[in-house]
Amino acid sequence: MATMESLIGLVNRIQRACTVLGDHGGEGGSLWEALPSVAVVGGQSSGKSSVLESVVGRDFLPRGSGIVTRRPLVLQLHKMDGGTEYAEFLHAPRKRFSDFAAVRKEIQDETDRITGTSKQISNIPIHLSIYSPNVVDLTLIDLPGLTKVAVEDQPETIVQDIENMVRSYVEKPNCIILAISPANQDIATSDAIKLAREVDPSGERTFGVLTKLDLMDQGTNARDVLEGRSYRLRQPWVGIVNRSQAEINKNIDMIAARRKEQEYFANSPDYGHLAHKMGSEYLAKLLSQHLETVIRQRIPSIIALINKMITELDAQLDRIGRPVGVDSGAQLYTILGMCRAFDRIFKEHLD
Ligand code: GDP
Ligand code: NA
Ligand code: MG
Repeated sequence: MATMESLIGLVNRIQRACTVLGDHGGEGGSLWEALPSVAVVGGQSSGKSSVLESVVGRDFLPRGSGIVTRRPLVLQLHKMDGGTEYAEFLHAPRKRFSDFAAVRKEIQDETDRITGTSKQISNIPIHLSIYSPNVVDLTLIDLPGLTKVAVEDQPETIVQDIENMVRSYVEKPNCIILAISPANQDIATSDAIKLAREVDPSGERTFGVLTKLDLMDQGTNARDVLEGRSYRLRQPWVGIVNRSQAEINKNIDMIAARRKEQEYFANSPDYGHLAHKMGSEYLAKLLSQHLETVIRQRIPSIIALINKMITELDAQLDRIGRPVGVDSGAQLYTILGMCRAFDRIFKEHLD
C-alpha cells in the first residue's frame, strides 16, 4: 500500500479541481465543502502567519501592518522524500518557484489582482502548493485576521466582512479550526476562541494554539491553558514560540527558529514536562494525523458526492452530445473523467 497516494494528497487534488471549476465552497452542497480542511483563525498579530511559516519551515507570507491577508490562501503541503523544495500556484501552473521571496511577492500581486489595491477583501482563494522534505502532508487555509476597527482607507464594513468570511469557513462541520491566541493576552478575550466557541461549542474540531509564550510577564505561565483547565477542548492545546520581530529582522531562518523553539520547551521549568507535545513541528504532525483520520471517516460521503457529480455530468453530456472539440462540453468530459478516477482511487482506500 506504500505506493498509494496519501489521502491528504488526493483530497488536495480534488480541491484544486474544484477551484478550477469555480467551486470555492460558497454554495451549499458543493464537493469543496465536503472535503475536510484546516482553517487558521485569530486576531490580527496573534501570530497566524508565523505559525504557518513555522509549519512549512519557510518564510513566504506577506507581512506588514494592517490587513495583509485579504484573500483566503489554501496552502497545500506535500512531503517529498528528498530533492529541492519548490512552490507552485494554481493560477500559474507551469511556473516553479524555488525563491520564497518571489512566492511572497506573487501572493501579494495575486491578492491585488482581484481586490485591487483598495484593501478590500475577496473570498476567492489563492491556491499554493509547497513540495518539500521539511513538511508533512497537510492543507491549511490562511484567512484574514479578525479585527475590531477599520483603519486608514478601509471601508467601515471591513470588520464585519472579515468576520463573515472567516465564519463561512469555520461554521462548516468539515472544517478543523486552528484557533490562534497569544499567551500575553487573557484567553477570555481571544477572538479565535470566541468564534470557535460559537461554531464548535463542544470543541471537537478546534485545536487551540497558544503563541508568544516567551512574551508572558515574568512569574506567570500558561499551564492552565495548555493543560486544558482555562478553556476545555477535545483536542490538546499546543504552545508555540515563533520568531520575534527582532529575529525576523535579523533573518533568523525557520529551521533554526524551530530548533530554538524546541530548546525553549525542553529547558523551561514551566513546560518541560509538556515539551514533547509543544512546538510547531509537533503541531504539524498532530494536524496531519488528525486530517488524515477525518478524511478517512468521510470517504463514503465524499464518494457519494463524487458519484452525484458523475450522474449530473453524464446527464448534461447526454443532452449536449459527446463532443471532441475544445469547448465547454470537452471541459465537462474532462471533469467527468477526473471524477471517475477520484471515485476509483477513493474506493481503494476503503479497504
Ligand atoms: P498575524 O497578524 O496573526 O499573522 O501575526 P504575525 O505572525 O505576523 O505576528 C505578529 C508579530 O508578532 C510579529 O512581529 C511576530 O514576530 C510576533 N510574534 C508572533 N509570534 C510570536 C512568538 O511566539 N514570540 C514572539 N516573541 N513574537 C511573536
Ligand atoms: Na499581521
Ligand atoms: Mg498575518
